[in-house]
Amino acid sequence: MAVCYRDLGLVNTREMFAKAMEGKYAIPAYNFNNMEQLQAIISACVETESPVILQISKGAREYANQTLLRYMAQGAVEYAKELSGGNAIPIAVHLDHGPDFDVCKSCIDFGFSSVMIDGSHLSFDKNIEETRKVVEYAHQHDVTVEGELGVLAGKEDDVEAEEHIYTQPDEVEEFVKRTGVDSLAIAIGTSHGAFKFKPGTDPKIRLDILAEIERRIPGFTIVLHGSSSVPAELVAIINQYGGKLKDAIGIGEDQLRKAAKSAVCKINIDSDGRLAMTAAIRRVLAEKPAEFDPRKYLGPAREALKELYMHKNVKVLGSAGHAFD
Ligand code: G3H
Ligand code: 13P
Ligand code: ZN
Repeated sequence: MAVCYRDLGLVNTREMFAKAMEGKYAIPAYNFNNMEQLQAIISACVETESPVILQISKGAREYANQTLLRYMAQGAVEYAKELSGGNAIPIAVHLDHGPDFDVCKSCIDFGFSSVMIDGSHLSFDKNIEETRKVVEYAHQHDVTVEGELGVLAGKEDDVEAEEHIYTQPDEVEEFVKRTGVDSLAIAIGTSHGAFKFKPGTDPKIRLDILAEIERRIPGFTIVLHGSSSVPAELVAIINQYGGKLKDAIGIGEDQLRKAAKSAVCKINIDSDGRLAMTAAIRRVLAEKPAEFDPRKYLGPAREALKELYMHKNVKVLGSAGHAFD
């Protein structure tokens, strides 16, 4: 039987994005696969009073089971209420990189409040066709839809792209009009994972292309994927305690801050959370080799994650303090 996200206490992204556009900040979109990640996201966002988008990828659905994830997300609303003493922050549950109509439909029927249909590997016309189909179904249920134009370099689910294919500004207006999407993910030099730039190259994203896209579709919500900053201190801790992450480079916080002040209203971050958890776990296991209670390393990992998300909300995305605008 189909479930409506509103009955779970969730919201879609429409109002979140309108407020973020107006207030010149970006909503954090954090991926989760397990309880500790979810607890860290919710407690960080409650404490900083930030709205939040909980992202579930195809890989997360396979890893954790989509029924469990759905109930966890539903539980997150109650958890947020409990932490804040009654009034929950706005929480959306979003399908990250939906591969096709069927997966998007199943998530909508399953209580997701927002979905991404990632047709970025299709031709322009096929991308429009698939995206339009998802929008028609989603909007009947008041679920919001993110589309994507342009291809991010790096690995994304099972698809690997060698080079960036930047979003072409002269395609965005037609794409947005013909599909009816609520937001558009663009490729301007961000990429997934912890190795976003080659050492020795200038680690810059193309804010000029972003500005041109904004000029073509003024006031329309833009999304940035692949926006982890890959903090050097986390990479150093991982390597200090036996890890081997060579030449890991992310997107500078200054560039993300600029983007968040523009029409970019949603910023996707996953890898930084993975780094924070891994660094904390490696440290505990190296310093206390006799430890074998998972709570003794997952607890510090959760604490490190929470700190990371609070920092992002306050210092990078600017979403802190906007939960009850
Ligand atoms: O876009 C990719 C996200 O980081 C999700 O990663 O597909 O490994 O869960 P995943
Ligand atoms: P990062 O790998 O940079 O964290 O990007 C995550 C993302 O875009 C999820 O869709
Ligand atoms: Zn992504």
